[in-house]
Amino acid sequence: MKSTLRLSVMFMSFCLFKSETCTVRDEEVYNAGLETVIVGQPVGIDCYLDKILHLNQTTYSLKWYRNGSEVPITNKTDSRIHQHDNMLWFLSAIFQDSGFYTCILRESARCYKSVVRVAVFNNSDGQCFHDELFYEQEIPIGSNAKIVCPALGNFKEDMNALSVHWYKECKQLDGQRYVFYGEDFIINNVNSNDSGKYQCKATYTYEGNKYNISRSIFVIAVASPEKKRTEILYPRNNTIEAELGSNVFVECNVSTFRDNFISISWKVNKTLVDILYEGRIKEGYQKDFRTEGGELSVVSLNITELKRDDYGEQFVCYAGEVAAYITVQAPTRHYIGYLVGSLAALVFVIALLVLIYLLFKIDIILWYRKSCHPFLHKKVADGKIYDAYVLYPKTHNPDCFVLKVLPEVLEKKCGYTLFIWGRDELPGKALVSVIDETIKQSRRLIIILKSGSPSYKLLEEAPEQQIAVYNALVHDGMKVILIELDKIKDYSNMPESIQYIKQKHGAIQWKGDLTERQSYSPSTKFWKKVRYRMPPGHQIFSELPLVETSLNTCQTIGR
Ligand SMILES: *[C@@H]1O[C@H](CO)[C@@H](O)[C@H](O)[C@H]1NC(C)=O
Ligand SMILES: *[C@@H]1O[C@H](CO)[C@@H](O)[C@H](O)[C@H]1NC(C)=O
Ligand SMILES: *[C@@H]1O[C@H](CO)[C@@H](O)[C@H](O)[C@H]1NC(C)=O
Ligand SMILES: *[C@@H]1O[C@H](CO)[C@@H](O)[C@H](O)[C@H]1NC(C)=O
Ligand SMILES: *[C@@H]1O[C@H](CO)[C@@H](O)[C@H](O)[C@H]1NC(C)=O
Ligand SMILES: *[C@@H]1O[C@H](CO)[C@@H](O)[C@H](O)[C@H]1NC(C)=O
Ligand SMILES: *[C@@H]1O[C@H](CO)[C@@H](O)[C@H](O)[C@H]1NC(C)=O
Ligand SMILES: *[C@@H]1O[C@H](CO)[C@@H](O)[C@H](O)[C@H]1NC(C)=O
Ligand SMILES: *[C@@H]1O[C@H](CO)[C@@H](O)[C@H](O)[C@H]1NC(C)=O
Ligand SMILES: *[C@@H]1O[C@H](CO)[C@@H](O)[C@H](O)[C@H]1NC(C)=O
Repeated sequence: MKSTLRLSVMFMSFCLFKSETCTVRDEEVYNAGLETVIVGQPVGIDCYLDKILHLNQTTYSLKWYRNGSEVPITNKTDSRIHQHDNMLWFLSAIFQDSGFYTCILRESARCYKSVVRVAVFNNSDGQCFHDELFYEQEIPIGSNAKIVCPALGNFKEDMNALSVHWYKECKQLDGQRYVFYGEDFIINNVNSNDSGKYQCKATYTYEGNKYNISRSIFVIAVASPEKKRTEILYPRNNTIEAELGSNVFVECNVSTFRDNFISISWKVNKTLVDILYEGRIKEGYQKDFRTEGGELSVVSLNITELKRDDYGEQFVCYAGEVAAYITVQAPTRHYIGYLVGSLAALVFVIALLVLIYLLFKIDIILWYRKSCHPFLHKKVADGKIYDAYVLYPKTHNPDCFVLKVLPEVLEKKCGYTLFIWGRDELPGKALVSVIDETIKQSRRLIIILKSGSPSYKLLEEAPEQQIAVYNALVHDGMKVILIELDKIKDYSNMPESIQYIKQKHGAIQWKGDLTERQSYSPSTKFWKKVRYRMPPGHQIFSELPLVETSLNTCQTIGR
C-alpha cells in the first residue's frame, strides 16, 4: 500500500533535547510535526518518544502541554482534550484546537521534548470525499487489492468499538466484489473501473458517546508493471519423512505481487484440515511479509501427532488458483549405507584377526595343540619311532647345542624322541642302511648349520647327510627344520639342497647363549618356533629344573 497525504504531507519529526531543566532555546523549536483532523472528528496523537527511546515504562514520566503553557494537559477522560496513556486525544477536534503541542518525557537525569502541530480542517459537509484532505493508493490491475482506511491506528486497541463502512463516489459498497476485512477491504480482480474516490466512515464509541471518523482515499488502478504471478514456493509436491507420533510442522510459502490478497488454506480431500481432523491437524494464521516487488504469505500446517493414516495422504496448500501438496512418509532406513558400513567393519575385523594371527601364529598353534586337543598328546600311530632326525656338522665334536641343549629341551622338557647321530646309532650296522632306515622312521629332519667352520661341506664330508637330505626332499611329507647356530650371510657355498630348503622353509636362528639358563626354557621365542615346526602331540611336560651339569658341560665346551 502506498498512501500519501497530498495536501499536507504527514510527517512526524522530533527535536530531542537533552537537558536537566528541559528549558529549550527558541531556535530549537523549529522542527515541528503535523497532524491533521477534520472539525468534529476525534484524533489521537502519538508522542512516539517512548517508542523511539525504548524506555522501561516504570522509569519515566510523560506529559503533554499546549505551546506556551506550563500546565500539563489533564488526564481526566471526560475532558474533550486529555492525555490518554501517552497519547493526546481530541474528542472531538474544533477549529480552535489548531496549534502546537509539546510532549515532554522526563527520565531520572535526562528529559526529552517533541513538538507536534495540529491542523484542523473545516468540515466540507455533505461531501463524500474531502478535496483538501485525502490519501492516495495505487492498486495493480488484475490483483486482489487491499484498500486501507488510514489513521485509525490510535483507536485500534479498542477495535470492537470501531465499525467501518466504505463508500465509493458517495455510494456504499456492497459485498459482491468486495471482501470486508477489519477496517480494510479487498477488491477482487481489480480492473480500471476500480479507480476513484473512496471514503471510509467509522463510528467510534467511547464512554457512551459516539464519534464519527472519516477518511478519503483516492484509488488509482494501474497496470501492474511486472505482473508477478502467484506461486507456491513450498511445498512443491514433495515428500517428507517423519516418525509416527511426531509433531510435523510445515509452512506453505506463497509469493504474490504487492497488495494482492489471496486466501491460502490447507486441505485434504478438498476439505479444510481444521474441519476434517477436528484439531489434531491445524492450519496456522496467515502471515504476510513484504518482499522486493511482492509479498510473501505463509500459512503453517501443524500435525500435532502423526498417525499411520497420515502417511501417503496429500496435504494440499491452496493459494487462489494454484495448489501444491506435501506427503509424509515413514523414515526409510538407509540400508545401503548400513550395508557398506557393516561390510567395512567386517573387513576391518577380518584384517585385524589375520594380522593378530600372523603376529602370534606360533603361540596360537602351540596353545591350540596344548589346550584344545588333549587327544593329540598321544603319539600318532604312523609307525614312526622318532620325532626328528638331527643332522649336524661334525666339525665340533662333541657339539654342546646338539648333544646337550637340544635333548634337554626337546626330549626332556617337551617329550620328543630324537635321533642324534653319534649318540643313538647302534654299532655293527651298515652306515648307509642305518641312516636310510632311521630317517624313514623319523617325522622331521632337523639340520643344524654353522658358518664358523672353515670347510663346511656337508655333502662331501658326510655321505649320510647327503642321503638324509635327499630323502627329506624326495620322500613326501618329510618336513625339514633348518637351525642356524649363527648368522649365515652367504648360502652360495652351501649345497644346493640346503639352499633350496632355506628358500622354501626358511631357517630358525639361534640367538641364545648356551651358558644361560634361559636358553633351556621351551617358552623362549626360539624354542617356540622349533616346537611349532615339530610334529604336534607334545607339550611341555614340565619346566623341570635344569640339571646343573648341562650348564657346566656347555660352559667348558663353550670356552
Ligand atoms: C522495568 O523496571 C522495573 C523496576 O526497575 C523492573 O522490575 C522491570 O523488570 C523492568 N522491565 C523491563 C522490561 O525492563
Ligand atoms: C508558542 O507560543 C508562544 C507564545 O505563547 C509563541 O510566541 C510562539 O510563537 C509559539 N510557538 C510556535 C512554534 O508557534
Ligand atoms: C492522572 O495523573 C495523576 C497524577 O499525575 C495520577 O495519579 C492519575 O492516576 C492519572 N489518572 C489517569 C486516569 O491516568
Ligand atoms: C472554518 O470555519 C471557521 C468557523 O467555523 C471559519 O472562521 C474559518 O474561516 C473557516 N476556514 C476555512 C478555511 O474555511
Ligand atoms: C468499466 O465501466 C464501463 C462503463 O460502465 C464498462 O463499459 C466497462 O466494461 C467497464 N470495464 C470493466 C473492465 O469492467
Ligand atoms: C455521525 O454521522 C451520522 C450520519 O452519518 C449522523 O447522523 C450523526 O449525527 C453523526 N454524529 C456525530 C457525533 O457527528
Ligand atoms: C517460508 O517462509 C518463512 C518466512 O520467510 C521462512 O522462515 C521459511 O524458511 C520458508 N520456508 C520454506 C520451506 O521456504
Ligand atoms: C481421502 O480420500 C482418500 C481416497 O478417497 C481416502 O482413502 C482417504 O481416507 C481420505 N482421507 C481422509 C482423511 O478422509
Ligand atoms: C503445533 O501444535 C502443538 C499443539 O498445539 C504445539 O504444542 C506446537 O508448539 C505446535 N508447533 C508449532 C511449530 O507451532
Ligand atoms: C503439484 O501438483 C498439482 C496437482 O495436485 C499440480 O497442479 C502442480 O502443478 C504441481 N506442482 C508442481 C510444482 O509440480
